[in-house]
Amino acid sequence: MLDFNRILQNEETLDPENWDDMRRLSHQMVDDMMDYLQHIRQAPVWRKPTELAKANLKKDLPTAPEDPSSIYEGFKSDILPFTKGNIHPRFWAWVQGTGTPLAVLAELLAATMNPNVAIGDHAAMYVDQQVIDWCKQMLGYPAEASGILVSGGSIANITALIVARNAYQVKLRKEGLHAVPGQMVLYASSETHSCNVKAAEVMGLGSNAVRKVRVNGQFQMDMDDLRQRIAEDRAAGLHPFCVVGNAGTVNTGAIDPLAEIAAICEAEKLWFHVDGAFGALAKLVPEYEAALKPIEQADSLAFDLHKWMYMPYEVGCFLVKNAEMHRSAFASQPSYLLSHERGLAAGPDPYGNYGMELSRGFKSLKVWMSLKEHGIEKFRRLIRQNIAQTFYLESLIKKAPLLELAAPVTMNIACFRFKPNEGMDTEALNHLNKEILMRLHEQGLSAPSSTVIGGSYYIRMANVNHRSRKDDFEALVADTLRLGAEIMES
Ligand SMILES: Cc1ncc(COP(=O)(O)O)c(C=O)c1O
Repeated sequence: MLDFNRILQNEETLDPENWDDMRRLSHQMVDDMMDYLQHIRQAPVWRKPTELAKANLKKDLPTAPEDPSSIYEGFKSDILPFTKGNIHPRFWAWVQGTGTPLAVLAELLAATMNPNVAIGDHAAMYVDQQVIDWCKQMLGYPAEASGILVSGGSIANITALIVARNAYQVKLRKEGLHAVPGQMVLYASSETHSCNVKAAEVMGLGSNAVRKVRVNGQFQMDMDDLRQRIAEDRAAGLHPFCVVGNAGTVNTGAIDPLAEIAAICEAEKLWFHVDGAFGALAKLVPEYEAALKPIEQADSLAFDLHKWMYMPYEVGCFLVKNAEMHRSAFASQPSYLLSHERGLAAGPDPYGNYGMELSRGFKSLKVWMSLKEHGIEKFRRLIRQNIAQTFYLESLIKKAPLLELAAPVTMNIACFRFKPNEGMDTEALNHLNKEILMRLHEQGLSAPSSTVIGGSYYIRMANVNHRSRKDDFEALVADTLRLGAEIMES
């Protein structure tokens, strides 16, 4: 039998016994982290976690208490030095943002308040709303559009496809896929990010439901192929419901012909979704505004603030023109989540009515503080700077006879390889370039990533880094050439 009297005489909490000690430690942590960020350029981009560090991170479940300052020492020795590196000026792998110092502090504030931004009349609900409204403004979406902040592009894209699916047949929510007598299909170029295919799998449509439309020489969706596939599917009695256009493909940064996709969607009565994970924000840059303006015609848009808005992980955004369709795809009102007219359970429409997640952290605070700190013009300039740096890298690659570009640069991604001579076959070149990439990482020099285009392996530099400078790209070229020569000699 539970002896509650004895337990209640010895009530405990997770708050510190000594607040002064915790305060001192917190000041130390903030000082250390600001020093760390200030001097990050001097650190290697990446260091392989040592065997000792890995062993220290693989221990039995703690039973006895440990002093917070000793835990922090463990963090400094076993975790901090072995970071991924995306805060470093020479990190350009995958598409990963850098974060900012004020946003670090915003995370501290958000975690201190620790609101679950699901329901209720509290400030975080309004900050979320404000940030969504600013996102609409940044991308030219109408004020009456709906939206939600999510963990990232993958969840923003699946949210879009769920809304699109329900817009096609509202009974789907209750009856499942049986509500549509035949296969529902959607269209996306062969360069589209795999998260969209995964979304179709998770939604029960299956990956075959994603028609991988051919691309042209610039890796943009081929409109003739799109039209033909829609016609074939209709003739076969299938149910086309959505086209996903890319505002910046993950491999090369290609922007699909969005205006033409919009026109086809309009004529064919299909949902037009844009995956603009990073590229959508290039719409802020005057030179890219025209190509990206048709985003405004899309029924929905997915993009990340942790990519080209430089926010710390995680924060992505989903916007949708038809607010009612957004709500009707997710709304539910169980008895324990009723909204009230007054009191804490009042406030904005709960976010659970707009997405899969119920519990949600206060991710909007870092965005709200950062936009206020810098203003949108600064972000516009930084995105433009990243694009200019990528064209500069392209010019350096073109000047180096032993380097070869996979495709002309169009935005912030450059894919290239070291090609010492014409005689080397694809397999040997792939092996050589993979070896160069691994050495760039292992020597802590820089961190691009890789991709395979047309069967060939390329070093891939994706620039969403506000810390990079012109000379960082010069170093990338020089290091690639030096390592390539070294490997050839060995
Ligand atoms: C074009 C594109 N779409 C979707 C995603 C997935 O976004 P996330 O990693 O935030 O889930 C990415 C990630 O790089 C991307 O480049």
